Amino acid sequence: MFLVCILYILLLDCDFSHALLIKDICHTWFSERLSIYVLYTVLNDCKDIIDESPGSTSGIYDIRLPNSTDTIAVKCDMETDSGGWTVFHRRFDGSVDFYRNWKEFKNGFGNLSGEFWLGNEVIHRLTSYQPYTLRVELEDWENNTVYESYSNFIIDGEDNVYTLHVSGYSGTAGDVLKGHDGCGFSASDFDNDNLQIDCANYYKGGWWYNGCFNTNLNGPYVQSHGKMSRNDAAFSSYIWKSRKYSLKGARMMIRQK
Ligand SMILES: *[C@@H]1O[C@H](CO)[C@@H](O)[C@H](O)[C@H]1NC(C)=O
Ligand SMILES: *[C@@H]1O[C@H](CO)[C@@H](O)[C@H](O)[C@H]1NC(C)=O
Ligand SMILES: *[C@@H]1O[C@H](CO)[C@@H](O)[C@H](O)[C@H]1NC(C)=O
Repeated sequence: MFLVCILYILLLDCDFSHALLIKDICHTWFSERLSIYVLYTVLNDCKDIIDESPGSTSGIYDIRLPNSTDTIAVKCDMETDSGGWTVFHRRFDGSVDFYRNWKEFKNGFGNLSGEFWLGNEVIHRLTSYQPYTLRVELEDWENNTVYESYSNFIIDGEDNVYTLHVSGYSGTAGDVLKGHDGCGFSASDFDNDNLQIDCANYYKGGWWYNGCFNTNLNGPYVQSHGKMSRNDAAFSSYIWKSRKYSLKGARMMIRQK
């Protein structure tokens, strides 16, 4: 069949009496094999990309989500700790508002070249397909940076309110997600926290709020970071700094194990 199809392609411009029939057969033959090829030669994330092409540099790449034909663009870090990281959260200048609703956190928002949230649905689809490690990086206004790695990271599906499962921490920041393991995701219009008050609206972000948080990486970006009171809503981590300190930058990214 392959040879017949090649022959057909070579004769495409000729007046071939059975061209239509052969075209149909060949088209089916190729598309069946093409979709099998597409399903089996998938680059599901930035780790697959760097494994396939060692030396790939950091930047924006297309990936195909596991077990599907959906393609999306993602930001890859190909340097940190040997690279292969798919970045799903980035903040550094306050240019993007992170006080958003459920649907926006589900589908993602922002700008892959700037600040963004990749989207809970994508994080779920990646982390539920194979085992992942999480890396969280934080930066303060004196340009100090710390990081924390988690050896296990999974986000449940929307039907289980994108519940966070995270464990096995090590690094220099401390257990930044302490108290958040097992929490559902909350956004401005969907409260899944463990407190009477609505943490997402009180602290103006979307997050795996508990009661409410130790770390609030989607809270408001505050430029006057030194002048806050304890209950001001901010982009903060009590584990590294105090709640009165709004961070300068953060990044969260995952890599398949
Ligand atoms: C892939 O998708 C099929 C059909 O939706 C499903 O039955 C199967 O469990 C999925 N496999 C994995 C590993 O998610
Ligand atoms: C995305 O962010 C980059 C870096 O901050 C900026 O240069 C660019 O204009 C932004 N693009 C859009 C469409 O907002
Ligand atoms: C932090 O880094 C920025 C950008 O590299 C630089 O402009 C600034 O002076 C640095 N701040 C401190 C306190 O070192």
